[in-house]
Amino acid sequence: MELQIKDFEDYEKTYRYSVEHPEEFWAGIADTFFWRKKWTNVLNWNFKEPNIKWFENGKLNITENCLDRHIYTNGDKPAIIWEPNDPTESARVLSYKQLLEKVEQFANVLKNNGVRKGDRVCIYLPMVPELAIAVLSCARVGAIHSVVFGGFSAQSIADRINDAECSLVITADGNYRGTKVVELKSIVDDALVQCKTINKVIVLTRARIGVSMIKGRDVWWEDEIHKVESQGNPAYPAEEMDAEDPLFVLYTSGSTGKPKGVVHTTAGYMVYTGYTFSNVFQYKSDEVFFCTADIGWITGHSYIVYGPLSQGATSLMFEGIPTWPDAGRLWDVVAKHKVNILYTAPTAIRSLMAAGDQYIDDKDLSTITKLGSVGEPINEEAWHWYNEKVGKGKAPIVDTWWQTENGGILISAIAGITPTKPGYAMLPLPGVQPVLMDENGKILEGNGVSGNLCIKFPWPGMLRTTWGDHERCRLTYFSTYEDMYFTGDGCLRDEEGYYRITGRVDDVLNVSGHRIGTAELENAINMHSDVVESAIVGYPHPVKGQGIYAFVIVEDHQKDLELTRKDINATVVRLIGAIARPDKIQFVRDLPKTRSGKIMRRILRKIVEGDFANVGDTTTLLDPSVVEEIKEGADKMK
Ligand code: WTA
Repeated sequence: MELQIKDFEDYEKTYRYSVEHPEEFWAGIADTFFWRKKWTNVLNWNFKEPNIKWFENGKLNITENCLDRHIYTNGDKPAIIWEPNDPTESARVLSYKQLLEKVEQFANVLKNNGVRKGDRVCIYLPMVPELAIAVLSCARVGAIHSVVFGGFSAQSIADRINDAECSLVITADGNYRGTKVVELKSIVDDALVQCKTINKVIVLTRARIGVSMIKGRDVWWEDEIHKVESQGNPAYPAEEMDAEDPLFVLYTSGSTGKPKGVVHTTAGYMVYTGYTFSNVFQYKSDEVFFCTADIGWITGHSYIVYGPLSQGATSLMFEGIPTWPDAGRLWDVVAKHKVNILYTAPTAIRSLMAAGDQYIDDKDLSTITKLGSVGEPINEEAWHWYNEKVGKGKAPIVDTWWQTENGGILISAIAGITPTKPGYAMLPLPGVQPVLMDENGKILEGNGVSGNLCIKFPWPGMLRTTWGDHERCRLTYFSTYEDMYFTGDGCLRDEEGYYRITGRVDDVLNVSGHRIGTAELENAINMHSDVVESAIVGYPHPVKGQGIYAFVIVEDHQKDLELTRKDINATVVRLIGAIARPDKIQFVRDLPKTRSGKIMRRILRKIVEGDFANVGDTTTLLDPSVVEEIKEGADKMK
């Protein structure tokens, strides 16, 4: 079966086939991959428990698909091009052959340090090639990786390590970000005070800063590599994995409680990320693909590492930030490495747009042929700027909608093949069956409707469970609507049948493309000793998409509130990480509550949007006068 869709007619035909014959369709796609042993059954599923199995009894290792199988035909092709934070430092290129060598080497390091199939390994590394190497080495050994984004705090790392009972952490001394050095090892050390399951810490040298190294526990990456070299660099044949063996856990925030560990399994995830990468971006064999996400997020997992590599693509990894040394850096990277496909987030586009066209106008972006957007709704202004300034009106923009739980892109245009429209994710990919639901659980048929977005049939890349708590998975995603996966997003299907994602309908914020759970953040704020209660809502933010607005009741209003504000911020940064720091904190006497004590967030949302006239009926509140007070306070915050 041909992997890539050829034209719009082919898309329609393929889509129809994928819905009418899903098993035959996905078997055909899976056949383009390398299996040690073929599956005996394509799909076994129910959304009730849920229990979802793809390619049952198939045996494989994803790294043989991402590395070994390309060696014979494409061994010298660059697999990873790495651009460092500091533009004066040299870039690095790893061919498929070199990447495989490094992965086998590090797989041996993992083995020497006691890692076995099924063990969980926490990875807290900067965006350096060793991060991709560490991820792939885990997969080679059959260990389950849990990558934690470098912006999370020690407490968040500890929570994740403890939840998955990781036995080993891979980190670096420090991480460069613009002019800053983040002391990663020191953050890990703080985390490990709370972790009983960790036996070993492997520390990569990156920033060459002083770190504490505990005898018997902490070892240097470089020393461990030397040991493998002195053993004669033995090959590391890939561990044979079952199709449904977990490949990784990735923690993500929801509307309640602590982040949950989304579990993805080997074969389905591989097939889905490979297929969607190849199709959505219409990747051609010599193209350079640049996804600006961090591998600490799902976008990096699927479209820096696994998707591109399984398709033998060249994937560019960037350590730095788009605005350093100046707001032209991203365009310099594009020009330097002759990037053909750029995949980035609306928040980055908006911040570069705000910096001014002088940073982009003289850059050579002539190699760009396709553009992608991900992570949050893209506003029309940003879409047009992206189209005109970056794509010069010639590069199709694929606005890709998906989630950590989905493994890969679900709704998106296919570059150059299906139509595009600003702000629209457009059409479901083959194999994806979206439905819109009304509040009463009825399916909204036809076009020109808006509702809650669900998916009614499994796709190979979907989550299988949440680590250690299957019931939570069922409750979160499969219990709102019967026999449906519920996304948590609202969606419009316009008159022409095109999909536009309108944002979360639950209490999850999307701040600069990062998911922030309001309950998790409120819990963190409430941990501060002066805080009685808090409520978080999102407000429209020109660059971040959504900003974090905190309403906080403190114990003693006579205190220096400026200082309390700083203390609350410091508490959030310590408990979650800088990405969750509130943009605005408004101190209030009380919150708008119903007689049963429920906070009316709807009212708070209207207030932070400045839409005072539409706060709605407040007569059912315990104390309607708080609304007026909060409005006055909010006015002063502007
Ligand atoms: C939002 C990121 C509009 C959405 C891959 C989803 C989007 C959440 C888009 C998942 C898009 C992602 N248009 N909204 N193209 N892409 N979202 O898990 O609300 O970090 O539920 O996955 O981001 O975020 P996550």
